[in-house]
Amino acid sequence: MANGFVHWGDKQALMLINQSHKAGESLTHALRSLTDVFGYIDERAITPLMQTFALSRAEILGVTSYYDDFRDTPPARHVIRLCQAEACQAVGGRELSTHLFAKTGLALGEAAKNGQVALEAVYCLGLCANGPAGQIDDKPAVHLDAAILDAKLAELDQ
Ligand code: FES
Repeated sequence: MANGFVHWGDKQALMLINQSHKAGESLTHALRSLTDVFGYIDERAITPLMQTFALSRAEILGVTSYYDDFRDTPPARHVIRLCQAEACQAVGGRELSTHLFAKTGLALGEAAKNGQVALEAVYCLGLCANGPAGQIDDKPAVHLDAAILDAKLAELDQ
């Protein structure tokens, strides 16, 4: 997958869960391992997690829903993050999110139904002097403008 994650596999998921447990690690460590490999925690992992860590479904879902990093759906193939913090706002960061909405129909925090691209807001990447800033597939992007984003969208769509 372009986002670096592999497609969900029950056998591999079970192996990761068991590795965490045998190493004496916590549920959170197992969830992190699953997320690092698959990009999300599939519903099919809940029962093995319950059995392995002797926890209830509610306890596991309580942890996964508490942390933003634990998603329950596969991530988009590409992610565009736009900084919405003050320094980037001052140089047009918000206007860029409006532009992307006009181009894609997606607000920040939404993903295309085909899973190709997701838009996310971030709040300062330490690139304030070079805003508007963002990340495209985890790579820093600075001095963003509408033309750059249009070109990136076209590139990511291929
Ligand atoms: S405010 Fe956007 S990178 Fe710091």
